[in-house]
Amino acid sequence: MQTSREGSSAVTNLDAPSVIRVKRDGGVLSDAAIDWVIDGYTHGRVADEQMSALLMAIFLNGMTVAETTRWTAAMVASGERFDFTDLHRPGSSDRPAALVDKHSTGGVGDKITIPLLPVVMACGATVPQASGRGLGHTGGTLDKLESIPGFTGELSKDRIRRQLSEVGGAIFAAGELAPADRKIYALRDITATVDSTPLIASSVMSKKLAEGARALVLDVKVGRGAFLKTEADARELARIMIDLGNSYGVPTRALLTDMNCPLGLTVGNSVEITESLEILAGGGPADVVELTLALAREMLEVAGVDGTDPAETLRDGSAMDRFRALIAAQGGDLSRPLPLGSATETVTASHGGVMGDLDAMGVAMAAWRLGAGRAQPGEPVQLGAGVRIHRKPGEPVAAGETLFTLYTETADRLPGALAELDGAWTVDDAAAARRPLIIDRICSAESAGSV
Ligand code: URA
Repeated sequence: MQTSREGSSAVTNLDAPSVIRVKRDGGVLSDAAIDWVIDGYTHGRVADEQMSALLMAIFLNGMTVAETTRWTAAMVASGERFDFTDLHRPGSSDRPAALVDKHSTGGVGDKITIPLLPVVMACGATVPQASGRGLGHTGGTLDKLESIPGFTGELSKDRIRRQLSEVGGAIFAAGELAPADRKIYALRDITATVDSTPLIASSVMSKKLAEGARALVLDVKVGRGAFLKTEADARELARIMIDLGNSYGVPTRALLTDMNCPLGLTVGNSVEITESLEILAGGGPADVVELTLALAREMLEVAGVDGTDPAETLRDGSAMDRFRALIAAQGGDLSRPLPLGSATETVTASHGGVMGDLDAMGVAMAAWRLGAGRAQPGEPVQLGAGVRIHRKPGEPVAAGETLFTLYTETADRLPGALAELDGAWTVDDAAAARRPLIIDRICSAESAGSV
């Protein structure tokens, strides 16, 4: 990863070309320059073209930890910061709400938020979750939830507050929280500047520091389907985000988790909701259950909630009850069928063996080509588009067996999606060793130079 030169040219003239030039030439942006450019972009005084050039310069030359910290603070300051510390736990008049959240740095088939929130809510935590839409090849929790008829993530602050106190959780579009991130996030998506450590750290943490959570757990993904491909880069990202959280008085920790292979058996929008409902009903793929419970335990511990075993909430139905309450509070109707693309195609195994490699990026691109993600900002996604995986790595495969089913509303998207899947999987003679899903647990930031 490239780094900035410390201590070089301070910006004296606060205009966009000067700020861009400093970063283009590998210099360090002053606090004043960062504050100015974030404020200017939020309010339309800095143009998209100028911010695009600056983002590319940051992508290429990095930012120091001090720059990333200031960039994050400027993004937090671009909007409102929620404070729910006066709330009580649902059903209690004297116990303060344990406000905790989780954020993933982005993966493939990563529906974990959907079963996780009701699990921790059922254990007594309160979860204010500012959530995003798809970014790059990764899906967005709000896009997935909007496949439930009637569901809305556009909640006012008063509605979020009421829902937190009555239901114990809310999943909402960031709206006026860190509006600078909303604009920059959309621009990064179309300028190939997503996979940058300082830009991911500031994007995630600005939303999380503004949303009102008082403790935070990060799921930092690493591998072919993640924005960061190496463990060293992912660890660095985890450390800087932990540092940022702690510096705001929000105890923060991270799990480093594998993203070489998609999570679970579905990648898309409604197909991931179907799988989440299976998890909440006590079934579902083992990897999704494992990560949901591991993150739940971290969230409860960092928030100081003890008592209920999170696994018990999946067995006794209390997490499903919380999910139904959360979805109903946000207008969703789970009694109506979820959309599913009417044009389908399957991929079958030409020979038997063991499911070998399954490349998360290939599956993500297939789902994206089917219409599950966006090609242009603001474009609607196909709620019923996606890929169902029938065999996970290591599972036996018979010749002629279906390995993947593809769904879309637009049949002419199928050939492009099939081409993305081509080469993204193998059937081998024997199972290969794979790294564990949960690679590490990082609780403190033994920080960090340039990112
Ligand atoms: N999630 C975010 O909110 N921002 C990023 O940049 C990546 C993942």
